[in-house]
Amino acid sequence: MIPFLNIQAVTALHADEIAAAVDSVVRSGWYLKGKATADFEQAYATFIGTSHCVGCANGLDALTLILKGYMELGVMAPGDEVIVPANTFIASVLAVTRCGLTPVFVEPCANTSLIDDSLIEAAITPRTRAIMVVHLYGRCAWTKRISDICRHYDLKLIEDNAQAHGALAAPDRRTGSMGDAAGHSFYPGKNLGALGDAGAVTTNDDALADVVRRLGNYGMEPKYYCDVQGINSRIDEIQAAVLTIKLRHLDEDNQRRRAIADIYTDMLPASLTLSPFAFDSVYHIYPIFTEQRDALQRYLLSEGIETNIHYPVPPHRQCCFPQFNSFSLPITEQLAATELSLPISPALSTDEARIVAERIRQFFHI
Ligand SMILES: Cc1ncc(COP(=O)(O)O)c(C=O)c1O
Repeated sequence: MIPFLNIQAVTALHADEIAAAVDSVVRSGWYLKGKATADFEQAYATFIGTSHCVGCANGLDALTLILKGYMELGVMAPGDEVIVPANTFIASVLAVTRCGLTPVFVEPCANTSLIDDSLIEAAITPRTRAIMVVHLYGRCAWTKRISDICRHYDLKLIEDNAQAHGALAAPDRRTGSMGDAAGHSFYPGKNLGALGDAGAVTTNDDALADVVRRLGNYGMEPKYYCDVQGINSRIDEIQAAVLTIKLRHLDEDNQRRRAIADIYTDMLPASLTLSPFAFDSVYHIYPIFTEQRDALQRYLLSEGIETNIHYPVPPHRQCCFPQFNSFSLPITEQLAATELSLPISPALSTDEARIVAERIRQFFHI
C-alpha cells in the first residue's frame, strides 16, 4: 500500500529530536505563553522574513485574527468586502464570513489553479478593503501586479500561507512576507506540521501584531484588563517546541518533496499537470487534473495507491453558504471536478513515486 500521506513516517524522520523537545516542555512545568513559544515565534519570523510572528491555535484563527485585528484598527468594518480566490480550502472564506465581512470570489487561472490577477481589478468596489491570496498546493499566488493593485486602491494584502511554508515568491523572499499580513496553519499534515493544531500570523505591522496578540488572548493586556473582545487562540508550548525542531528541517523536507514532484512531472504528460513554476513551489500537494478522475482514483486504489481530492466542493457550492450557491465560477468548478492529489511527503520514497506515475501511465495506456 502506498498511503496518500503517512504522518507517522513523517514524524519518524525527526523522532528523537521531537521526543526530546516534548520531554523538555513536559519537565519544565510551563505549558502556555512561555520560552518555547517565544523561541518558535522568533525563529519562524526570521525564517519567513517578517519582524513579527504571533502564534495562535490554528490556521483558520490566524486568518480570522488578522481580519479582526484590522477591524479593531479601523481599517475595515462589518459588511466590507475581501477579495478571495474562488479556488481554495473553505477556511480562507470562513475567516472572512466569521468576521461579518463579505467574500468576493475571483476565479483562478486554469493552468496554475491560483487566483487570476487579471480579474482582480474588476472585482474591486468602494467597499473592498483587502485582497487575500492563497498559496494553494504550495505554489506562490503572489504577483507584483497584485501588490501594485493593493497600493493603487489602498487595500491590505493578506496571504493564506497554510500550504506553502518555505515557498519562494522571489529568489530571496518567502511567501508569508509578501503582503501586509499572513496566516499560517501547522495542522499535522502540512509541510510544517505540529503534533496537533497550531497556527501563526506573520507581519511587519507593529500595531497589527500587537492587536492580534491581544485578540488571541481574550483581548487582555495587561492581564485581566480587556480593551477589546478577544478569543482564546494560543499556540501551546509543546507544539511550539515541536515546530522549532521541524522548522530546522523544513528546507530539507521541502527538497525531498521537490524530488518526488520532479519524478511525477518527468513521468506524467504535461496535459495532466499544472504549468511548471517560475519559483520554488514546496509541493504541499501534487495535483493532476483529468476528466477521468474518479475512475483513475478507483484504479489507483485497486493497485494499492491512495489519493485524495483537494477539493471536491468549492466554497461557493458548500451547503453552509446558500447565499453563494447560485454563483457561476466555471474554472473553479472544473478544477474541483477533475483534481486528484497524488501521494507526496518527505517520507515517500522515489521508488514509490515512480510506481505511482507508472500506474497512472498504465491507466492512460501511455
Ligand atoms: C489554504 C488553507 N487555509 C486555511 C487552512 C486552515 O488551517 P487550520 O486547519 O490550521 O485551521 C488550511 C488548512 O487546513 C488551508 O489549507
